[in-house]
Amino acid sequence: MTATLHRLDRKLANTPPASAKTKGKPLISLKGVGLTFGSNEVLRDIDVEIGEGEFVCVIGPSGCGKTTLLRILSGLIQASRGTVSYRGKEQREPASDIAIVFQDYANALLPWRTASQNVSLALEAAGMPRAERRDRIAELLSKVGLSKHADKFPSEMSGGMQQRLQIARCLAQNPSVILMDEPFGALDAMTRQKLQDEILSIVSESNVTAFFVTHDLEEAIYLGDRVIALEPNPGRIAELIDVPLARPRNQLTTREEPEFLALRRKLFDFVLRYE
Ligand SMILES: Nc1ncnc2c1ncn2[C@@H]1O[C@H](COP(=O)(O)OP(=O)(O)OP(=O)(O)O)[C@@H](O)[C@H]1O
Ligand SMILES: [Mg+2]
Repeated sequence: MTATLHRLDRKLANTPPASAKTKGKPLISLKGVGLTFGSNEVLRDIDVEIGEGEFVCVIGPSGCGKTTLLRILSGLIQASRGTVSYRGKEQREPASDIAIVFQDYANALLPWRTASQNVSLALEAAGMPRAERRDRIAELLSKVGLSKHADKFPSEMSGGMQQRLQIARCLAQNPSVILMDEPFGALDAMTRQKLQDEILSIVSESNVTAFFVTHDLEEAIYLGDRVIALEPNPGRIAELIDVPLARPRNQLTTREEPEFLALRRKLFDFVLRYE
């Protein structure tokens, strides 16, 4: 087994690095992006294209700029250098079809609104008439497995359920892109795996483009088409890794694939450099 891993490791090490260019039509394009907060250079020379329907994961040590990169993509903050384009146009403000799922679901939900009412919020904001909202809310709650909990308040729901609710609320925006910042970081291992599979099927059914920040190397490989490894001080792309694993992925068999194990080893070696 170890010998096979070493062979695969060598094979992966010898393959040319994944391109910063996407194989599909680019939806988001970052060219020479850098960001400085005061005297702190947080990100430098970020060059990457993300294609329509692609699932890109980001890993890297704490403080290397993962969240900052996500916030730049969302349009919430502006880069100090370089350009960020969305659908071929320079992005200067948040786009309504880019949704963000935060790790901190408790703060992302309104505690005085039920599950239905939390989802309704996004539909109300989009101006959907009340008569149409009911069916759409039912559809979204069913998509995330919460049909039976429509009338519960967030405080009456488990962490996994609250995170599902936040995802449903994001989907209500009908997003083309979902940006996720360690969305499953606070959940137990089993719930986390279930939600990984749910997000994969949601993304593939709706051809949504996903940008997913995580500390969990295996999660990045399991979900991603590509993994960006950011090195710190300042945050730069150290590696852009293609994930050549077949879809649909499977929590047991995919994680046992030799390519999965070799990639895990590669990413592990990468993060160990910054321990
Ligand atoms: N609004 C801000 N003003 C000043 N500095 C900031 C701001 N936001 C982030 N930073 C700094 O930018 C750097 C990167 O922070 P960021 O939150 O992007 O890291 P991260 O990779 O997401 O870390 P973690 O894994 O801990 O979530 C840190 O040095 C942080 O202190
Ligand atoms: Mg972060």
